[in-house]
Amino acid sequence: MRNAVILTVLAAVAGAVLLVHGGAAASGPTYNADVAPILDAKCASCHHLGGIAPFGLTTAADAKAHAAGIVRMTKAGLMPPWMPGDDSAPIIGRDLRRLTSTELATLAQWAAAGAPAGNPADRHSKPSTGAGLTGPGTTLVLEPSKPYTPHAANGGIDDYHCFLLDPKLKQDVFVTAALIKPQRTGIVHHVILYEAAGAQATDADQLNAASGGKGWTCFGGPGLPLDLSGSDSLSRLGQPPWIAAWVPGHSTNALPAGTGVLVHKGAKIVMQVHYNLIAASGPDRTKAELRIRPATTPLIPLQTQLIAAPVELPCPDGVTGPQCSRQQAFQDEVNKYGAENAAIPTALLKICGKTLADYPQSVGTGTAITTSCDRAVTQPETIYGVAGHMHLRGHDIKVTLDPGTSKEQTLLHLPAWDFHWQDVYYLVNPVTVGPGDTIRVTCSFDNSTADQPVIGTKQLTPRYVLWGEGTTDEMCLGMLSVATG
Ligand code: HEC
Repeated sequence: MRNAVILTVLAAVAGAVLLVHGGAAASGPTYNADVAPILDAKCASCHHLGGIAPFGLTTAADAKAHAAGIVRMTKAGLMPPWMPGDDSAPIIGRDLRRLTSTELATLAQWAAAGAPAGNPADRHSKPSTGAGLTGPGTTLVLEPSKPYTPHAANGGIDDYHCFLLDPKLKQDVFVTAALIKPQRTGIVHHVILYEAAGAQATDADQLNAASGGKGWTCFGGPGLPLDLSGSDSLSRLGQPPWIAAWVPGHSTNALPAGTGVLVHKGAKIVMQVHYNLIAASGPDRTKAELRIRPATTPLIPLQTQLIAAPVELPCPDGVTGPQCSRQQAFQDEVNKYGAENAAIPTALLKICGKTLADYPQSVGTGTAITTSCDRAVTQPETIYGVAGHMHLRGHDIKVTLDPGTSKEQTLLHLPAWDFHWQDVYYLVNPVTVGPGDTIRVTCSFDNSTADQPVIGTKQLTPRYVLWGEGTTDEMCLGMLSVATG
């Protein structure tokens, strides 16, 4: 009986929906009524005048001019950009970014009908500018002491600059959300905030003072000497913890509900900004706003853990010379970064239980050289966030829980790694792990002649590539944002 009632109601609702839909279909979707709400919500954060995308999609004329491209790119799943593959665990914010099948169909119908603008009175949406900071707490606004005009060395198109921000904390606090506000949006491509505490706060101060307060050039990380003193620093290989990351179109500023990242009294914050200088450069003063709460608030503290795999990329077949020797690559790192940093490639082999025999010297064309490392979980912990990090030769990275067992689960897979779209991904369902579980990071690199990085206008020739901080060195790094206990 009850079922019958529900069915009748459902039928009535379906009828009503069909009627409404039928009405719209008769005249077809228009920009103002149907397309603007989609483009405003899911495209405008990058596609606005001066934004990171090469053209705006905020008016009927913009949309009409690009109608064919809009359909082509959205159908192919290339726009809006969403890096995690479908095999990744569900990620917070995904649905804010991706298009639904209904939205895809609306765009296609509208374009097929000649991209009609419709009636301006039907437009009720506004281009999204990204979410603000919400939730309890106070807001700390941090900005570099002066604007910086990015410039790329050697005729290149990228500049990575680290700014010192001083939150002047008199006590430990939790950061619960971070809002990054690029000033010159057309050139800011990604931003990472690191906590430099203890010895690294002093290091950051020194680098900043040496630069006359302008900040310093930094590529793969914040460019601080390794700090292995803290109890949890080994699980980060001496790198400072991440507080937050931002890429254009980034839609989730808040950490998962009930969590926070602890930032210590006296700590400095290093803000790494990647400037992409395809468009004209100019002075930029990117700001960071942090939502903070006292450390006494009962929140779950999230910590950064890194799982790093060895990177051993020999020259492809047919390429020979001194630059193809591992010994030469090691010596180059000693010269560039000092003996301590140059010891990392060998330490990684040991930590990951591998030897050079696991990395054959003959790699064919070199287009798919893989590496991995397993880390045994030693204590109960809950994984809230996952990220991956490689440099320019990386093309696929995956973080897997309990690989090769019936409990195997892909936490994050970035099947088309792009150094220019880095973010931390928070899981809809945090994953609880403990002793007996294993987490594996797997990376695939292309060291072929055709895929070598182009620095300025010059494409590099293949060489033996090892783990290292520099532009043309590599990394294979899985990052977890976890709560322990
Ligand atoms: C996160 C930023 C971002 C978002 C969100 C985004 N785009 Fe883009 N889009 C770009 C960038 C950057 C480019 C330039 C090409 C590149 O670097 O990949 C681009 C290029 C394009 C192009 C031209 C591609 C070509 O090769 O002709 C189209 C069309 C496009 N976007 C449509 C869309 C639509 C439609 C949406 C929303 C449904 C959208 N984009 C959302 C950043 C974005």
